[in-house]
Amino acid sequence: MMLKNNNKIVISMGGSIFSENNPATLIKKYAEVIAGMKDRYNLYIVTGGGYVARKFIDLGRILGGSDDILDDMGILSSRLNGYLLVSALSDKIKIPLSRTFADSMMNGSIYGVSVMGGVMPGITTDGVSALLAEYVGSGIIINATNVNGVYNKDPKKYKNAKMIKHMNYDELIDLIETSRKLSPGRNNIFDDFGAKIARRSNIKIVIVNGGNVANIESAIKGTEKTGTVVDAN
Ligand code: UTP
Repeated sequence: MMLKNNNKIVISMGGSIFSENNPATLIKKYAEVIAGMKDRYNLYIVTGGGYVARKFIDLGRILGGSDDILDDMGILSSRLNGYLLVSALSDKIKIPLSRTFADSMMNGSIYGVSVMGGVMPGITTDGVSALLAEYVGSGIIINATNVNGVYNKDPKKYKNAKMIKHMNYDELIDLIETSRKLSPGRNNIFDDFGAKIARRSNIKIVIVNGGNVANIESAIKGTEKTGTVVDAN
């Protein structure tokens, strides 16, 4: 098995972080935490497309855009959000936005931080973060999203939904498949492709609420158990 480096951490910043009414405050906090940790860790950040992606994809679909074109707009949106984080970092560390896995590997080792969005049609940034973790040999993906973790059913619909603190890869993949059958097109907490990549390379996924940047710090340090941990056990 490939050697895993504990200092290499992939952080997937879900599109929701960039989609608040005024996301500048939260993005600035991320930049501070990232800049403060870059001497101890190599941080590989992947940014999601969020509101901008959804808006353009919906409009493009109405206009008859094919899936590859809609995906390309999603990729561009995720890169725009990447530029927002690069902007917030620029007074602390000036880095280029990475466009490929090779760029990200190189920039992460040069600067201690890399930021990238999507790479190719047909996947989402969950898949990108899992592939990036493989490329750099990271054993962990921290997925910063807009709920506290993985629930047994949709917490926005069901009051009695329970958060699952720990699950294995097969359980996550089953849950993704079941919820897809229940509601086609539903946006899952983590995507099927990314989960399968994580499973094949035994990369731990920690899903936390990204609305509070302290959750990212504790997931990195492993001090406090927040959110849902997905691994082989
Ligand atoms: P996201 O990864 O942001 O999707 O990519 P999402 O499911 O909305 O995730 P959250 O809300 O950020 O967690 C947005 C869209 O961009 C395209 C896809 O169409 C995706 O739905 N995309 C993204 C790609 O085609 N390829 C990529 O590598 C990344």
